[in-house]
Amino acid sequence: MIKKELNKLDFKGNILTDIDVGKTTAFKTKALCNYFIEPFDLKSLSILVKYLKKKNEDFFILGGGYNTLIKTNGIKIIISFKRFFHKFGLVKETKNEVYLNVQAGAMLQKICWHCAIKGYQGLNSLIGIPGTIGGAVFMNAGTKKGDIFSVIEEVLLMDYSGEQFKAAKNEILPSYRELKLKTDKKFIILGCTLKLLKTNSEKLVKEAKKLLVERKNSQPLNEKSCGCFFKNPESSPAGMLIDKTGLKDKRIGGARVSNLHGNFIISEEGCTALDIIKLKELIQKKVKNKFDLTLEPEVKIVGRD
Ligand code: EPU
Repeated sequence: MIKKELNKLDFKGNILTDIDVGKTTAFKTKALCNYFIEPFDLKSLSILVKYLKKKNEDFFILGGGYNTLIKTNGIKIIISFKRFFHKFGLVKETKNEVYLNVQAGAMLQKICWHCAIKGYQGLNSLIGIPGTIGGAVFMNAGTKKGDIFSVIEEVLLMDYSGEQFKAAKNEILPSYRELKLKTDKKFIILGCTLKLLKTNSEKLVKEAKKLLVERKNSQPLNEKSCGCFFKNPESSPAGMLIDKTGLKDKRIGGARVSNLHGNFIISEEGCTALDIIKLKELIQKKVKNKFDLTLEPEVKIVGRD
């Protein structure tokens, strides 16, 4: 039905029906998606968004799937930019700076390494963080060394009426693991302009390699996970709190707390979204009992109950 109606509206793009979308997420847990839609361009995205609004249909924008857990009962409609929205390029250059336009579906690590190799400074703090630029902007991805907001000049967005708009740096409220705008509009991230400093490429690449080794030593980057599962409470890092509750290596079904870093939930053979949710709830309960702190997930849990 949706497919037929969209085709009549001059929508261009892929519409896959009834696919296991879970395997495209980092946890690789099974989840059915009834309509997995990849618009070909912004015009088609706008047609799609307007159509879904008219039909009162909810949808979810899936970035790289590196910070998303889709519940076992799946999800009806997903829009993905990974296939058709991943271009990037310089838009402006001054003596000391470059301005890089990046579409939402571009992989963050591709951009980080491209910039390091070109000698554009500002993204090394994000080395090793998986996912797309759209996901990174939506989550304000970062580490202790910095986050993506520090290099954002402007974000290109679309509202739920299908109209494009921009948010300049001063319209973005800095916040931890979240994109907050000075507008109440619901939005879709289409891309951003990054402002980076020109510097020495050799120095940047050397630093990026060193940072990646450091992360690999303290985080289970070779296992299936969504990175840190919980946001850090202001008082202490979630990983340390979980460690102190003695939950490292705790398993529920195919889900396990990493023994390298307490804030990583690992998905093993046969793991389901429900296993991960049960383990998440156990962690929250134990941390609440021991420290009277409520851990809030950084990972977005979406889909049908
Ligand atoms: N710690 C423990 N036990 C553990 C894990 C950590 O005692 O099992 C202790 C560490 O020894 C350290 C402290 O907790 O003293 C903080 O740990 P870490 O340096 O690993 O940093 P984090 O706060 O756990 C944050 C980000 C990471 C980012 C690292 C490095 C959040 C939720 N996490 O982790 O981001 O890679 O800093 O900069 O903000 C992510 O967002 O997915 C992510 C992995």
